[in-house]
Amino acid sequence: MIDLTTQIGLKLQLKNPVLTASGTFGYGDELADLIDLNRFGGIVTKSLTLHPRAGNPSPRITETTAGMINSIGLANIGVDAFIEQKSELLSHLPGKVIVNIAGRTEDEYADTLKKLESQEWIAGYEMNVSCPNVREGGIEFGAKPEILNHIVGRIRDLTNRFLMIKLSPNVTDIRVLAEVCQKRSADAVSMINTVYGAAIDIKTRKPLVNTVIGGLSGPAIKPIAVANIYKTHRAVDIPIVGIGGISCGADVVEFLLAGASAVELGTVNFFNLNAVAEILEFLEEYCVAQGIGVVTELVGKVKV
Ligand SMILES: Cc1cc2nc3c(=O)[nH]c(=O)nc-3n(C[C@H](O)[C@H](O)[C@H](O)COP(=O)(O)O)c2cc1C
Repeated sequence: MIDLTTQIGLKLQLKNPVLTASGTFGYGDELADLIDLNRFGGIVTKSLTLHPRAGNPSPRITETTAGMINSIGLANIGVDAFIEQKSELLSHLPGKVIVNIAGRTEDEYADTLKKLESQEWIAGYEMNVSCPNVREGGIEFGAKPEILNHIVGRIRDLTNRFLMIKLSPNVTDIRVLAEVCQKRSADAVSMINTVYGAAIDIKTRKPLVNTVIGGLSGPAIKPIAVANIYKTHRAVDIPIVGIGGISCGADVVEFLLAGASAVELGTVNFFNLNAVAEILEFLEEYCVAQGIGVVTELVGKVKV
């Protein structure tokens, strides 16, 4: 038996290092009949805002050769409906539940979090400061160190629970932003959110997502994620949760070797409902073959 238990900072222990990625798994309930939620070390819910949001008009998803471009625009039911309608299922899961929060303003992030603090079952938060598809909020909080510094400090003061900041690759140097998160006592950073991408229908000459430029996800962005994780792992001491293009167990091992302590599965949930089971099996087999008893021994162990 391989020990898959994963500790992320001081506050979060997972039974295995595989989480769902925000926005690709709804609130846990939408895919509950298709994927065994209990297999995951944790669930990260879709970004929640203070008020419900309809998101961007369609088309808001298009497929590319090696992934997809989305421009959902943070559509969600709002924090009150989330607490009312989703607590029952989520509070009974054996894995941990991380609630992802977003907002148009700093106050919105703070007010959303304050409401969630009443819910004992929430293990922690992922703060989305990296959404590429919204006009206000999203990446504008995660691209400039001084703005990030302020908002992370404010949210940190509001909760003692696990707090992870989700960073964007669409910046000059992601390490500078991770350092800010560390300085403001975030427990972890997660990376990467989607990469700017666009696609055009040559017959109609129209863009394939409404905002023209959306967020590219899936296998195409995996090397970008690995590069960002690798360099950030060398720059900060706080743990990194790796996201971006993971589609199999070998990808997860690559992320761990680059420096991720855990991973989130996003786009793969749209094309392989069995991904989490296959990944956990692969991780065990890989560790046995490598003579490793504890999966966390792999973290950052790329030989350079
Ligand atoms: C359809 C879709 C919706 C997403 N919605 C959110 C969201 O609400 N909040 C968020 O932080 N990230 C969101 N993301 C980004 C993912 O969580 C993840 O960071 C990104 O897709 C890269 O991982 P992947 O290549 O495994 O999908 C979304 C991604 C997709 C494809």
